[in-house]
Amino acid sequence: MLSQSIIAFLPLLAAVSAASQGGAPPSTPPPSTTTATAAPTITPIGVEYYLQAQPLDQHPAKVVDNYVSPYHSGAGENNVTLGAQSEAFKAFLDPDGGYQEFDLGLSYPNEFVMGGDIAIQGASLVAIDAGIGDAGFSIPSKEVGLTWNNTAFGGWLACNITKQTTGLQLLWLNKTEESKEKAPKGCESVRLAPVYL
Ligand SMILES: *[C@@H]1O[C@H](CO)[C@@H](O)[C@H](O)[C@H]1NC(C)=O
Ligand SMILES: *[C@@H]1O[C@H](CO)[C@@H](O)[C@H](O)[C@H]1NC(C)=O
Ligand SMILES: *[C@@H]1O[C@H](CO)[C@@H](O)[C@H](O)[C@H]1NC(C)=O
Ligand SMILES: *[C@@H]1O[C@H](CO)[C@@H](O)[C@H](O)[C@H]1NC(C)=O
Repeated sequence: MLSQSIIAFLPLLAAVSAASQGGAPPSTPPPSTTTATAAPTITPIGVEYYLQAQPLDQHPAKVVDNYVSPYHSGAGENNVTLGAQSEAFKAFLDPDGGYQEFDLGLSYPNEFVMGGDIAIQGASLVAIDAGIGDAGFSIPSKEVGLTWNNTAFGGWLACNITKQTTGLQLLWLNKTEESKEKAPKGCESVRLAPVYL
């Protein structure tokens, strides 16, 4: 759901597309002094966290890795893979609208986009894309983790459906699809818990 405001980022996107495909985006640290730019915010709000995918039926303490990581898939576009914390990027929630933003150290915002297209049996892709993402995210508690206020949202899935060699891929279950709240084959239901490090 990229709005007209993406147009403002087009010159930057050209620079992004020039970068090599695949792998994490460049990990330049955020500037220590932020210059004023137009909305939306790229300045982190509140305490930043990593998002960790934790299987619902497992004690979180036993979960290692599976941190939400962007995987460059095109100009200003990233798939979401689950991997080591060292490859992950910190996230923050913009409470004004509820945008799940990622602190990629870039000069434009990068936010969760809930792909409408069904990738596999009732499940859709999640992306971290440049510009305005989808609204309606919140973290009611650490136990619930990140949730999306949408009637179709049936939870997060960690899936092994990709030909990427690194990590599982993050999808979300569209419960209005025929699978009816059941995780598709090759996927496990997970919570996205905030981890403050
Ligand atoms: C992004 O994910 C899709 C769906 O799994 C996959 O087809 C595509 O190859 C991925 N892109 C990259 C660059 O790995
Ligand atoms: C969920 O799936 C239904 C049926 O395919 C579709 O019409 C709807 O747009 C999907 N919801 C979202 C938020 O993508
Ligand atoms: C969820 O979205 C609905 C409709 O957009 C809104 O009325 C409601 O206040 C939202 N609930 C929360 C908890 O944000
Ligand atoms: C995905 O499944 C294939 C085939 O079973 C396996 O070789 C690969 O290691 C799995 N990938 C992940 C990230 O678990």
